[in-house]
Amino acid sequence: MKKIVLAYSGGLDTSCCIQWLKDKGFDVVCFSANLGSEFSPVDLKKRAIKSGASKIYIKDLREEFAKDYILKWLKADALYEGKYVLSTSLGRPLIAKHLVDVAKKEKAQFVAHGCTGKGNDQVRFEVTCAILAPQIKTIAPLREWELSSREEEIEYAKEHNITITATKEKLYSIDKNIWGVSVEGGALEDLANEPAQNSYYFVKPLAKALDKEIYVELDFVKGEPVRLNGKAYSLVSLIEKLNKIGASCGIGRTDCLEDRVVGIKSREIYEAPAAWILYTAHKELEALTLDREILAFKDIIGQKYSQIVYQGLWFTALRESFDAFVNETQKYVTGKIVLKLYRGNIVIAKRVSENSLYKKAFATYGEGDKFDRTMAEGFIKILSMPYQR
Ligand code: ARG
Repeated sequence: MKKIVLAYSGGLDTSCCIQWLKDKGFDVVCFSANLGSEFSPVDLKKRAIKSGASKIYIKDLREEFAKDYILKWLKADALYEGKYVLSTSLGRPLIAKHLVDVAKKEKAQFVAHGCTGKGNDQVRFEVTCAILAPQIKTIAPLREWELSSREEEIEYAKEHNITITATKEKLYSIDKNIWGVSVEGGALEDLANEPAQNSYYFVKPLAKALDKEIYVELDFVKGEPVRLNGKAYSLVSLIEKLNKIGASCGIGRTDCLEDRVVGIKSREIYEAPAAWILYTAHKELEALTLDREILAFKDIIGQKYSQIVYQGLWFTALRESFDAFVNETQKYVTGKIVLKLYRGNIVIAKRVSENSLYKKAFATYGEGDKFDRTMAEGFIKILSMPYQR
């Protein structure tokens, strides 16, 4: 029997994939990567076996995700199109890497994923597999099968006794990990619709957010957040903690119209409180500790970084080279940023760093001014000189 390893999330799509692959004559082994999933390992195993898998591998990859993916993103400040923290995009190459490892271990010649033929994730999975293991063939059931809508899929699942959580009334497709939750589909596809209450995943709607200002104090060492409110945490725990605090304050929910790799504009809601809190604090610490040329150049790198990660080009020399550059800049990014959170707002309250480039004696309009104004005159003359005819 041909063996295939399926990247299994426990959701509607991948649950239907198991049955479909079996009908095509495959022995289906599932692989579930825990990047902060909503299903427990016991639950996942039950679901997979009930749906027809012969075996399931479950790996907790949260540490690896935080250390090798999220942290690199954070240092690069790589917002996609200025608004997306790449929570889903960053997880895909990691899952694909382990998927390929399991396939090798199982001596399977095939891998499969449950991504649609219109999205970015199929690209990310398959590009990663093709780079890391070109000899393994990928099958994408959703690109081939005859089920053309989520409604039909739900029917298919019911017919085959597959346990699912989606209902016809709540047709969102959700991807969740510790860095964020992506919600799309259903009523959100109509841009004239404001997101409905049931599209909120864990961030509090503004009207229900805490009516109290919450301070968070973040310490960074060389670009890495290491302490929250004076207490040391592992990166995973720090992110999980910030997600809770931020969500209660209504932080980190964005409604994005984004450009997919496959040329389609689509709308997605993201909930990523920790990501936005850390991004804001990190950027601010960079503003304090890095010079203007590095800041400007780093912005360009960050933008390009976000585009290649969005496209699934994680395992490439370009991304590694960007990381080398970015890492070099981070040696100065040590210090403390205090933020105030209130009803969806992140406000900078304090900035402290031993590497600060801010000099009050130069900036001040008050007493203690040390800036030599006579320098300004000559500087202005020289700056304007090349443009005078
Ligand atoms: N648009 C996001 C991305 O390309 C998320 C895709 C998956 N979204 C989902 N709701 N399943 O990274």
